[in-house]
Amino acid sequence: MAVLPPDYDSDSERWTAWTSPFDVHEVVAPELGGPVLDVGCGEGRLASLLDSSVAWTGVDSSPTQLRANSYRPLVLADMRALPFRGGVFAEVTLLWCLYHVEDPATALREANRVLRRGGRCYACTSARDNDRLPLWLTKRGVLVRATKS
Ligand SMILES: C[S@@+](CC[C@H](N)C(=O)[O-])C[C@H]1O[C@@H](n2cnc3c(N)ncnc32)[C@H](O)[C@@H]1O
Repeated sequence: MAVLPPDYDSDSERWTAWTSPFDVHEVVAPELGGPVLDVGCGEGRLASLLDSSVAWTGVDSSPTQLRANSYRPLVLADMRALPFRGGVFAEVTLLWCLYHVEDPATALREANRVLRRGGRCYACTSARDNDRLPLWLTKRGVLVRATKS
């Protein structure tokens, strides 16, 4: 099954044409204490909901999305090769971005690598073969503890 190719640089108006009034960001943001790595951060919707005391870093592979993001720091990078040392983040979020890569497991392994022990990963994605936007939240304790122990 094909991935959904990102068009954030070639057709930036498609992305800005619609905004959900309530999304997973509103669920996840109150749980974050930082330091948090927001993978596929886009224009900064999650960052806009965080208290200023929460240390946030955004990563995205789209220069156009990063230009539209007013939060800092921002890093231009691919979610499958995060340019960070291991074990530095208390939380990693991957909100509505995993369906853009052929190998989402690689991105999740990278998220796990940069997480501190006991840290949490929050990921949500739509299925490639339907548009019902199923939501799933994963806690690192469930997904990864067995791998790292
Ligand atoms: C649907 S947007 C979601 C943005 C934000 N997380 C949100 O929920 O508002 C998907 C984002 O993933 C980014 N993206 C796509 N492929 C990526 C990759 N391989 N590495 C990093 N970011 C990627 C896109 O540039 C885009 O900003």
